[in-house]
Amino acid sequence: MVDRNGWGREHPVLTGSPRSPPSSFVEQANVSEPGIYEEFEAEWPECWEQAAELLSWDETYDTVLEDGEAPFYEWFAGGKLNASYNCLDRHLEAGRKNHAAIRWEGKQGERRTYTYRDLYVEVNEFAAALRDLGVEEDDVVTIYLPMIPELPIAMLACARIGAPHSVVFAGLSADALVTRMDAADSEYLLTCDGYYRRGDAFNQKSKADNARLKLEQNVRTVVVDRLGEDLPHVLGDEEYDYHDLRAEFSGETVEPVSRDAEDMLFLMYTSGTTGEPKGVVHSTGGYLAHVAWTSHAVLDVKPEDTYWCAADIGWITGHSYIVYGPLALGTTSVMYEGTPDYPDRDRLWEIVDRNAVDVFYTAPTAIRAFMKWGEEYPAEHDLSSLRLLGSVGEPISPRPWNWYYEHIGNEECPVVDTWWQTETGAVTISTLPAVDEMKPGAAGPGLPGIDVRVVDAAGEPVDSGDTGYLTIARPWPGMARTLYDGDDRFRAEYWERFSDPDADEWRYFSGDAARIDEDGYVTVLGRVDDVINVAGRRLSTMEIESAITDVAGVAEAAVVGRSSETNGTDIYAYVSTEGGYDDETVVREAIVDNIEAAIGPIARPEAVVFTPELPKTRSGKIMRRLLEDVANGEELGDTSALRNPEIVGEIQAEIDDE
Ligand code: PRX
Repeated sequence: MVDRNGWGREHPVLTGSPRSPPSSFVEQANVSEPGIYEEFEAEWPECWEQAAELLSWDETYDTVLEDGEAPFYEWFAGGKLNASYNCLDRHLEAGRKNHAAIRWEGKQGERRTYTYRDLYVEVNEFAAALRDLGVEEDDVVTIYLPMIPELPIAMLACARIGAPHSVVFAGLSADALVTRMDAADSEYLLTCDGYYRRGDAFNQKSKADNARLKLEQNVRTVVVDRLGEDLPHVLGDEEYDYHDLRAEFSGETVEPVSRDAEDMLFLMYTSGTTGEPKGVVHSTGGYLAHVAWTSHAVLDVKPEDTYWCAADIGWITGHSYIVYGPLALGTTSVMYEGTPDYPDRDRLWEIVDRNAVDVFYTAPTAIRAFMKWGEEYPAEHDLSSLRLLGSVGEPISPRPWNWYYEHIGNEECPVVDTWWQTETGAVTISTLPAVDEMKPGAAGPGLPGIDVRVVDAAGEPVDSGDTGYLTIARPWPGMARTLYDGDDRFRAEYWERFSDPDADEWRYFSGDAARIDEDGYVTVLGRVDDVINVAGRRLSTMEIESAITDVAGVAEAAVVGRSSETNGTDIYAYVSTEGGYDDETVVREAIVDNIEAAIGPIARPEAVVFTPELPKTRSGKIMRRLLEDVANGEELGDTSALRNPEIVGEIQAEIDDE
């Protein structure tokens, strides 16, 4: 991990007055016994069998937890199951074939409903097609699709034949796709011709084409025709049309492959502390059990609900809580394509109203935007179907929390602020909505069975109210099993810092700073490593820096986050140029273009600040922490350790001019 010369920016996050769950909610909740915490504690790790029991196993497991090779834990070892069987077949067998599985709301106002049977048929057909293309068990299939139904269908088709999927967010660039396919040695790609961006056709296939040109391996590509005549495309060598393949395999069924609980269900690339994204490996049994259990216990999802997680399946939230969790429970999962403000700012409330959504789960960035747009948009719609609200992805401060509670939930729905990560697989910190008081601004305690500890640099628990590092002291079923890039990196990234292998004491380090109160409620303050969270999306400052320093004329770059009302964090880039490059406008444009090419538009900086030099310590390290303070307009501490303290004033002046 890079030394940021300090850690844990103190955000002035205060918790609001506690609220109790409404009794109408408690009476009907899936989990309402306060004793569940003690029960999990007393029976750990066997308590997690409650999660495994939500699934159908082909063969039951021999042990709940194998911890002999820590930190490479195994959950439900010896058990066998198939994730697509759990999300589809068993609901058909239970007589629920005509129950809606996915309600899709397209960007142009299109709507499609898939019953469990519809989904089963299409998943089977595509699974047969994948096999025919040569996909074998354990081959990684990359999926580069926007929020269209073919995305979850393809994921389940992969799961059915035991081929791990690696979904790459559709908004990432061709180069980002290359990095991920290359790292995973993936020879199969599913993409589409394009998608609509605010009504305009946007070409996705050309990005996929560019990526394929750069990849060494031969890549068989399936293309979904999303735009029809709005964006004609031509299929080249080794390219297949999704709809033609379905027609070819119409009505075929594929026996779900019985997978070991520990077999990889999918890979998900996420930003880490180096320029290289990390391929997080998730298991089949533990992951599915954990997402199903948290959908049941935290989101209170019931089979008869209409449930809506308004995230993108291109990130972990969508994997766990649009696809695997809700479908394993047999509920109706709403999936929407587009943005909350197109065609109008009431889009989401119109969807809640029309579908009579029971449970709604979104990110603080969206909530802050709703708050800014005004309460008149939700007020136009009947939101009385809502029973529970969730928040995920970033800290939510009390003001937006209260706004969400009042204007969306009408003070009748508990709000769960769920903390988790790509690596944790499923929710790990949250209140249980029928059991715990809510404290706006604090996510809550560790879930039953999750041993959360906020510790100081020496690994000792901090006093309540103090800031420390957020760690987890025991394993949990949904945890990442390793990194695709190797076990060593897994150990180094998450375990080395706070574990004591000689004493066989293992601590997972999340990379977040947090405070813990006297009731064990955790307020997450943000990252302490080189990851920044922009509008709920996780980006690596080093990856952005390396895209900047690739630009001709750039000498050095440092990227930091600046607190933002809307995005949570905005990207600030400080750049020094080489002699001879005076035209900052040209360099600035080249920098922005290169970031978009290397990562995607989501990593566009809010500001590029040119400076003759970056502030450095005497040993030559860039003082990113100081630059962060400057970007945030905060008072600067002691700058005497700097080799070039005079530069700070110049940078401040530059920012003030922006
Ligand atoms: O910093 C934390 C923040 O998001 C990071 C994980 O990002 P990612 O792997 O992309 O997963 C996002 C969705 C699960 C965490 O390290 N984060 C996530 N949820 C919360 C949060 N910060 C505060 N409160 C949360 N509820």
